[in-house]
Amino acid sequence: MIDAQTEIYGIIGNPVRHSLSPIIHNAAFRRMGLNATYLAFEVGNLEEAISGIRGLGIRGVSVTLPFKTQVISFLDEVEGVAKKIKAVNTIANKEGKLIGYNTDWRGALEALEKKVDLKGKKVVLLGAGGAARAIGFGLKVRGCEVIISNRTRDKGVDLANELMCSYQPPSSFIEMEAEGLLADVIINATSVGMSPYETENPLPKKILKEGITVMDIVYRPLRTKLLQEAEEQGCLTIDGLEMLAHQGAAQLEIWTGKRPEIGEIKENLRQALESEIS
Ligand code: ATR
Repeated sequence: MIDAQTEIYGIIGNPVRHSLSPIIHNAAFRRMGLNATYLAFEVGNLEEAISGIRGLGIRGVSVTLPFKTQVISFLDEVEGVAKKIKAVNTIANKEGKLIGYNTDWRGALEALEKKVDLKGKKVVLLGAGGAARAIGFGLKVRGCEVIISNRTRDKGVDLANELMCSYQPPSSFIEMEAEGLLADVIINATSVGMSPYETENPLPKKILKEGITVMDIVYRPLRTKLLQEAEEQGCLTIDGLEMLAHQGAAQLEIWTGKRPEIGEIKENLRQALESEIS
């Protein structure tokens, strides 16, 4: 029941009408017994939106494309790793002070760490956009050996230099695999495989072998071509819903101080994605 005590949360981005975050957060607030609601705000002018958060006392917002970097200049404080990544996907309003966090990297790592012990592992990270940046910094925090690969070489090399790790062009994978040098973990942080390009796989199937864990951050569709082929080859797979659920859970923890139940968040997301298809 929304009343005069209801605390308001939301997501700012553009576009946001297909965001799954309201589903995650409203269902979690209900389960946690909190008088709070979460709305989607399609924002044209970021500065005005941030003033609105302050002026209306909105308690917290998620930040999505295209504002994750731009938003930093409007905040009072930015937490350590978010500052390094130069991207904020979560804002908490703590008594009028807007503090920025990044839960994308934590979401990806928590999803991975449920299946693999990352310590000392060799990870091929595909992509050099915002998502790859966040995950790359997270992998470095965990002490992984990271190899960046990207369609546009210059962008990939820039990210690799920043992360102080190596770069390999996608064309080198077959040779690396033949020499037994590929990876323990492969993460797709590109948009390859995402609807309407769901017939594409960012990697040749034959390099996927049993013993490799393959994670895809794409969740529309949930079973991407990459994950289908990885399963066929006997790899352990982690779908995009896992990272989404874990990053949302980390946001809820920042806002409420309580850790929500991850299994229920995943179930809500799975149902929402399935109902999009049917
Ligand atoms: P995000 O913030 O979600 O990471 P982004 O910053 O637009 O999105 O980055 C998209 C990533 O997917 C980039 O690494 C991009 O490669 P380029 O740097 O070469 O553009 C990658 N990508 C998108 N479409 C691709 C395709 N068809 N083949 C290979 N890589 C692709």
